[in-house]
Amino acid sequence: MRVLFTGGSGKAGKHVVAYLAAQGHRVLNVDKVALRHPGVSDLVADITDSGQMFNAMTAYASGDELEDGQGHRPFDAVVHFAAIPALMLAPDNETYRVNVMGTYNVLEAALKSGIRKVIIASSETTYGVCFSDGQTDPAYLPLDEAYPINPMDSYGMSKKVNEVTAEAFQRRTGADVYSLRIGNVMEPQDYARFPDFAKDPGSRRRITFSYIDARDLGQIVDLALKKDGLGYQVFNAVNDTNSVPQPNADLLAQFFPKVPLTRAVEPNESLLSNQKIRQILGFQEQHNWRNYVPDTH
Ligand SMILES: NC(=O)c1ccc[n+]([C@@H]2O[C@H](COP(=O)([O-])OP(=O)(O)OC[C@H]3O[C@@H](n4cnc5c(N)ncnc54)[C@H](O)[C@@H]3O)[C@@H](O)[C@H]2O)c1
Repeated sequence: MRVLFTGGSGKAGKHVVAYLAAQGHRVLNVDKVALRHPGVSDLVADITDSGQMFNAMTAYASGDELEDGQGHRPFDAVVHFAAIPALMLAPDNETYRVNVMGTYNVLEAALKSGIRKVIIASSETTYGVCFSDGQTDPAYLPLDEAYPINPMDSYGMSKKVNEVTAEAFQRRTGADVYSLRIGNVMEPQDYARFPDFAKDPGSRRRITFSYIDARDLGQIVDLALKKDGLGYQVFNAVNDTNSVPQPNADLLAQFFPKVPLTRAVEPNESLLSNQKIRQILGFQEQHNWRNYVPDTH
């Protein structure tokens, strides 16, 4: 597929772009900063500028597309990751502005240009536990896509609004629009931090102990690109197990003693459920943290 990918120069995006390129997709990375990945073209552009996004949707994906004389053509799909990716990186109103207007611009430009598949990066912070002021209990565990998301912070709020925008554009166009509630992203070098997580599991309470390997996130995006006809969907995007070795019975008793379980959970199963991506997209994790952290589990 010809894929326009926003935010491919970032922490998560650079691994996902590399994965997609390795699967044979032709990827144009649209970012404020060039990635310079072999086989991937860069278009330096700003998602907060609607005109630039409309223009990008029919850009050449690489120089060789000049040769066939077919002119400008829309992409097959858009994957939108560009954002300010957390609270406290920028003033709250700037995080909200960039994330909300940037996502609006990308969705509008893609879908009004006739592109029929858009995947956007939402976040596990929409569940309202991660960036809450004070310690917040979720209404239930494990967190699944049916949960009534209720963040209280400007970053999580921006991602909730983006899901509303995505669903509205899907209804208007009938295209496939999928929101990925991405967990805490881990690059290979981040596994050096896992022994500390094991010593202090409470440090992982706010993300309900979950994580997503950036390369496994590439697999999830690829599967979502290939799965057509689902209309609007939300998918949690996390690995199969928690990021700490303690069993759920202990974690729940210590850190979420008042939170009801809606079903039985496996001893180490991720409390941010990934059942839906496994059942509907066929996700099979390749990068469990235990492969990279000797002597901790
Ligand atoms: N990192 C995580 O743990 C995590 C967790 C959940 C969700 N997410 C979401 O995943 C996505 C990627 O996160 P990340 O950690 O790779 O973030 P990142 O900051 O490393 O990458 C974001 C990219 O977006 C680009 N960008 C920012 N503003 C832009 C603009 N106005 N125009 C064009 N490009 C712009 C940046 O240059 C950067 O390359 C984000 O949408 C983030 O909210 C991340």
